[in-house]
Amino acid sequence: MDFANLPMAAYIGAAVLFILSLGGLSHQETARRGNLYGMIGMAVAIVATVLLLDGAPMGYILVIACVAIGGFIGARWAMVVEMTQMPELVAALHSFVGLAAVLVGVSFYLGMDADHSSTVHQIEIYVDVALGSITFTGSVIAWAKLKGRMSGTPLLLPARHFVNLGLVFSIVMFAKPMLEANGGGVIWLLVMAVLAGLLGVHLVMAIGGADMPVVVSLLNSYSGWTAAAAGFMLSNDLLIVTGALVGSSGAILSYIMCKAMNRSIWNVAFGGFGTDSGKSGGPAKEYVGEVTAIEADGVADLVRDAKSIVVVPGYGMAVAQAQHTVNELSEFCRDAGKEFRFAIHPVAGRLPGHMNVLLAEAGVSYDIVLEMDEINDDLSDTDVVLVIGANDIVNPGALDDESSPIWGMPVLHVWGSGTVVVCKRSLASGYAGVGNPLFIRDNTRMLFGDAKVTMQALLTALRS
Ligand code: TAP
Repeated sequence: MDFANLPMAAYIGAAVLFILSLGGLSHQETARRGNLYGMIGMAVAIVATVLLLDGAPMGYILVIACVAIGGFIGARWAMVVEMTQMPELVAALHSFVGLAAVLVGVSFYLGMDADHSSTVHQIEIYVDVALGSITFTGSVIAWAKLKGRMSGTPLLLPARHFVNLGLVFSIVMFAKPMLEANGGGVIWLLVMAVLAGLLGVHLVMAIGGADMPVVVSLLNSYSGWTAAAAGFMLSNDLLIVTGALVGSSGAILSYIMCKAMNRSIWNVAFGGFGTDSGKSGGPAKEYVGEVTAIEADGVADLVRDAKSIVVVPGYGMAVAQAQHTVNELSEFCRDAGKEFRFAIHPVAGRLPGHMNVLLAEAGVSYDIVLEMDEINDDLSDTDVVLVIGANDIVNPGALDDESSPIWGMPVLHVWGSGTVVVCKRSLASGYAGVGNPLFIRDNTRMLFGDAKVTMQALLTALRS
């Protein structure tokens, strides 16, 4: 039997599994299956790549050693990382994709022989290194901003768009001397890699903290296109398909998030869109007023009297790991015949779908978990809204304070309900660092404390 085409058949199988994986991940009910398809696809792809090595012993040793070391580090890292640190992890992983593309591209150029030095092949290497370098440095800056190692304040160079244009122009122009050197132009490749790296740094430095979610998904897309470019360079069809899948799904997610946050995708792609979000560019308004505190017993009375209740979960619920207690609360209220639903903002928490994942983990049934657009109009007919560890996503300033960094971002109109109970530890601001006038509204009550502790106290009060 001839097994020569086995690796190619395996590549096609892996590509189909990756497509099934993306399809599965688009619905909560099928997400587990989607993950499984992705894992099997990746295992098939690695085995097929090893088969393609065609018996070179050093190649086998290197692949096995790299898979063992990389797999060990990845597994350890995934085990210790908190759910709230996922965006940092994702940004760090994107930077590895970029760095790998640069290293492979440069080594490919250096090892090029006369048969492989066609202009098209050199352009493939050039594009791979350019995209890899932008992805690498952009992701490192995104990681530093998300980790708090770098300020989230956007860097506003006076002529930043001209700087970007100048860098893009230089990157394109340096291709000429590299191509003319026909294999001897590594210096131009390296100079271009440095310029592309600077462009990556500058693009992400210009983005304000509140807009980082879109940057993370955009870098996801860049890393996909980088992998696709590497696929052309290495003549590896699976890498082209996988890169294109990651690149296009990341781009679609970026577009969806931009729409959800009322931002322009073009401004994000070219850096600095966060800086335009506040119209006046000045500091956001300060809010002065009295807040009304409430204890768990008082909230229990409100919940007992309410016919309809909506919970708005946010980053603080993830920090407190209060989702299981909140699920118990939902079951208690539904057993008591009340309408109980969850309202999910597209950028609640710190990664796309963060709240959906937490609620699914706690066993909340999917039919009572509604997206912002599905539930926003119903909030004015809701008796009690419990805002649990959320802040920016329920900030009315996003609608009426033009100087706010989150101005224009659609938010959940919780203030229209009968009573809003905001559960958090203090009056501190959220990720965007702006004050929230919701706290001083007449129908708002502040339930101070850790979300898990206060939700447990509320449940106890309701059950007693
Ligand atoms: P935030 O606006 O960040 O507010 C979270 C609030 O949770 C904080 O004000 C904090 O107040 C409270 N909190 C923290 N620990 C708590 C605990 N143990 N118990 C109770 N409360 C606690 O969160 P959000 O409303 O979910 O909005 C998300 C923000 O993150 C947006 O600005 C978004 O742009 C940004 N972002 C989102 C993503 C994605 S993709 N979702 C990625 C990066 C950034 P106290 O300190 O007073 O408790």
